[in-house]
Amino acid sequence: MTTICLFGKNLSLYGSLTVRNSRVYLQAFCTESTLHSTDMDLSNMRKKYKGDEESFEESHLASLDPIKQFGNWFDEATKCPEIGEANAMCIATASKDGRPSARMVLLKGYNNEGFRFFSNYESRKGIELESNPYACLVFYWEPLNRQIRIEGNVEKISYQASCDYFHSRPKSSQIGAVVSRQSTPVPNRDYLRQKNAELLEKYKDTEVQMPDYW
Ligand SMILES: Cc1cc2nc3c(=O)[nH]c(=O)nc-3n(C[C@H](O)[C@H](O)[C@H](O)COP(=O)(O)O)c2cc1C
Repeated sequence: MTTICLFGKNLSLYGSLTVRNSRVYLQAFCTESTLHSTDMDLSNMRKKYKGDEESFEESHLASLDPIKQFGNWFDEATKCPEIGEANAMCIATASKDGRPSARMVLLKGYNNEGFRFFSNYESRKGIELESNPYACLVFYWEPLNRQIRIEGNVEKISYQASCDYFHSRPKSSQIGAVVSRQSTPVPNRDYLRQKNAELLEKYKDTEVQMPDYW
């Protein structure tokens, strides 16, 4: 997976909340002098939303229990052929002084206790969660015109549960997790290829050791 990060100098975001078709939209405007050189006006960029007769009503809820309701929508999303990864979700974390950051991860389980995902404890999100253990998740299933936001505190699962999941993944993914120190610059792609080849050789006949930071 490739992620391109854009960092704006003193980028300010101004938000206004509008409720439309039972969904809340945050309209964000970036204002920063260096951005004006491109000045892309996207105000006409919109798709046609569903008509009022198709809009979501409270009576359409499968349950008043939010986890059951989540399960109902999640099942529909997994069955929708136009959705490639129904379990892809955006997770937002924040540093101790409140600077937010967000990225995609995969949901790997849920129950009445919470929502489970796996990541690298030394990544930016891992470090932010260490000092500020609160996060927000957003699912957006565009073909269904649905989004779900989940907020709460985050806890580490047991070492054993991490280990079990780590070893349940294909060997290439286990090695990938060892090769990539998330959120850390690498010299170039060849460096990653070479490390990957070394580890494939090292673990040819043995189990990959789960790194401490995973
Ligand atoms: C669809 C998708 C799914 C991803 N799933 C995960 C995941 O489950 N765990 C993870 O650590 N990173 C996942 N990533 C990579 C993260 O988005 C991110 O680049 C990485 O975790 C480093 O994030 P950070 O530097 O903000 O901590 C995924 C990326 C995409 C696009």
